[in-house]
Amino acid sequence: MTQPKDLDWANIGFGYRDTGKTYQAFYKDGQWEPGKVVESSEITLSVAANVFHYGQAIFEGLKAYRWKDGSIHLFRPELNAQRFTESAERLLMVPFPEDEFVKAVHEVVKANAEWVPPYGTNATLYIRPFLIGTGASVGLSPSEEYFFGIYVTPVGAYFKGGMEPTKFYVTEYDRAAPHGTGAAKTAANYAASLIAGQEAKAKGYSDALYLDAATHTKIEEAGAANFFGITKDKQFVTPKSPSILPSITKRSLLYLAEHHLNLDVIETDIFIDEADQLVEAGAMGTAAVISPISQIQYGDRTIDYGPNVGPITKELYDELTGIQFGERPAPEGWVPEV
Ligand code: PLP
Ligand code: COI
Repeated sequence: MTQPKDLDWANIGFGYRDTGKTYQAFYKDGQWEPGKVVESSEITLSVAANVFHYGQAIFEGLKAYRWKDGSIHLFRPELNAQRFTESAERLLMVPFPEDEFVKAVHEVVKANAEWVPPYGTNATLYIRPFLIGTGASVGLSPSEEYFFGIYVTPVGAYFKGGMEPTKFYVTEYDRAAPHGTGAAKTAANYAASLIAGQEAKAKGYSDALYLDAATHTKIEEAGAANFFGITKDKQFVTPKSPSILPSITKRSLLYLAEHHLNLDVIETDIFIDEADQLVEAGAMGTAAVISPISQIQYGDRTIDYGPNVGPITKELYDELTGIQFGERPAPEGWVPEV
């Protein structure tokens, strides 16, 4: 197994590395058994477990950041805990208690502290909580047993360019139906999006950009991140839709754009036909951080935002990552120490 000392932290990319310690908790006989950090990255399940056939599986993604003084901090983990509950409820799963979720994140990061990348490398420890239906049954019904786990793994930039703008491709596939599961972080949403992501990457784009499934006229989001744009009047705009993932990075940037950068902010419809009116565009998310978009390809139309990072995108990036890495003052409670 790779050890932390073997890693070239500034060039680790976004891949899985087993750190050997995970958090594990089981739900049986109508209750959650006490969870704990274990020295294993494996579990054993029945072949008839719900997750394998009927897909009761949800997850979260957040990061731990190493500050200059060596301390380790999270970013708004209680919002991940809340969204985890909402995702669980959408799939009729038994939620993991939110305060236990946050405690478990602290515990598993502490246990894997040597894997939190050094300050100044731009790398972070990605934290992946997940919940699956483990009960064995052949009839279609919600599982009566569940497994809650958290693994962690050190990561660098998700999109190859990092802060270098890259191209996105408007796909003809749909990610989520109007009253479907788009707002929940279900594993199935990601399985459904693989084909569009692969098509986009094969054509040389960073990721697929989805339009709304009902009318195919409005930008929804990318495969792994929400979308934002900056108008010529310096307004921060981002799609409002019940079928996109309610991104924690998006909610944080809406606040920072308004209160720290003094921009007007608006969540609204963004029509693909009007996307050329934006002067900057980007993808935002935990893995994506802020990834500027240089071009959007829509059928035979190319919407061009230019090869350089726009000034407002850069300011938003500096403010967000400055807060996450302890270089800039954070709103109360945003960056709890582990
Ligand atoms: N949209 C999708 C489909 C995602 O997978 C993610 C990543 O979590 C996001 C948006 C961004 O959400 P967040 O900022 O909470 O990570
Ligand atoms: C995240 O940003 O945390 C995600 O879940 C996206 C994932 C596809 C890596």
